Amino acid sequence: MHDTTAVAELQANAAAGGVPGKSANPHYRRYPTIDYLRRAARARLPHFAFEYCDGGSGKDDAGIKRNWASLDAVELVPRYGVMPSLPPCEVDLFGRRYAAPIGIAPMGGPAIVWPGADLALARAAQRARIPYTLGTVGCATIEEIAEVAPDVFWFQLYRCARNDHAVGFDLVRRAAAAGCHALMLTLDVPVRTTRAREVVVGLGGAFDPDVKMLMQMARSPAWVAALWKNGIPRFANLRRYVGENASIDDLVEFARREIGGGFTWEEVARYRELWRGTLIVKGVLHPQDAEKAAALGVDGLFVSNHGGRQIEALPAAIDALPAIVAAVGKRATVMMDSGIRSGSDVVRAFALGAQAAFAGKAFLWGLGALGDDGPAHVIELLIEETKAALGQIGALTPADARSVAIRHPGALAF
Ligand SMILES: Cc1cc2nc3c(=O)[nH]c(=O)nc-3n(C[C@H](O)[C@H](O)[C@H](O)COP(=O)(O)O)c2cc1C
Repeated sequence: MHDTTAVAELQANAAAGGVPGKSANPHYRRYPTIDYLRRAARARLPHFAFEYCDGGSGKDDAGIKRNWASLDAVELVPRYGVMPSLPPCEVDLFGRRYAAPIGIAPMGGPAIVWPGADLALARAAQRARIPYTLGTVGCATIEEIAEVAPDVFWFQLYRCARNDHAVGFDLVRRAAAAGCHALMLTLDVPVRTTRAREVVVGLGGAFDPDVKMLMQMARSPAWVAALWKNGIPRFANLRRYVGENASIDDLVEFARREIGGGFTWEEVARYRELWRGTLIVKGVLHPQDAEKAAALGVDGLFVSNHGGRQIEALPAAIDALPAIVAAVGKRATVMMDSGIRSGSDVVRAFALGAQAAFAGKAFLWGLGALGDDGPAHVIELLIEETKAALGQIGALTPADARSVAIRHPGALAF
């Protein structure tokens, strides 16, 4: 090495394909990685909002920590001498072209973290051309999202089984009428569990701020301004079943009654019949469940442990991924989430057979740090880091990442 100064390194980077966009991105200097966004979110958000988005189930967020440690433990052995410039990282998913193998996972209450978050996330995804998944209990309607994100719109459904799935089937019909591209059935919430950090800050039920929460809001004027502009977070999609004038308490009560239990395979088969478009099941961690889904004609699977939010005893999604790809990768599109915090993580997932890796909390930290600008910054960081990681290991395309040598100490054998 002749010259190790930062300037020389920058020039070398530029010559090798560079880091386009970073210098033009006003947020890059302060938030060069997602971890910086998390720290800023902790400092800027009302305490209850940060605790809601950042916490997991069980003791000491053990499931979240396992997701991170298991991803960090995956090593990719680079091959040099192929002179890659930053490779393109576009992917095809279910017959559509997306800008990168990344996406936004469904979230029920991003509007608690940042009022107006659902629409901000959807708009950023549409601009960047990556999939955005609206949650059943999100705070924007199916119809609103179809309007702002027509090219990237996926919808997640929780089990609403009362009256022979009247509400569940109606939500699916609405999604179809709105032109949604993929329906995602969440399998991994068969029971309600406790997230202690959420409970102690007072977010056990309806969003009903007590004095402590009001004081926390007073210290976050930007958050209050977003609340003023967008209104109190509420389950927007359920409103028409409860009544347009329904109070927040009514909506929460309705959601409690209506939503619950995990989809059975018989129910998945019924949704397969009803929904002609792309059908995905989310929360698969066992290859035999993956086999079951594929046999029912499901198009895609999400290997996921719900980001460590359901129970801390589950394996990390990245550790279950290879066995599931081996079982059904030829018959279904396997994707993953849970723990993704960088482009290196995306490439690890890709190298181990996922067609795409989605993130949840990373986007919420972005919202917490930067408000409405946050999602676009997270997308840009993930895309550029993904390209850099591909270039660094000598992969000229995302698919090339599958041929590198990999050490994966936590890989599960079934
Ligand atoms: C605040 C929050 C709310 C969530 N709500 C839902 C939901 O309503 N439906 C669902 O299927 N998953 C939900 N998830 C799980 C995500 O879809 C995803 O599986 C998880 O966040 C991925 O892990 P990561 O946060 O480490 O990226 C939620 C996650 C968070 C952080």
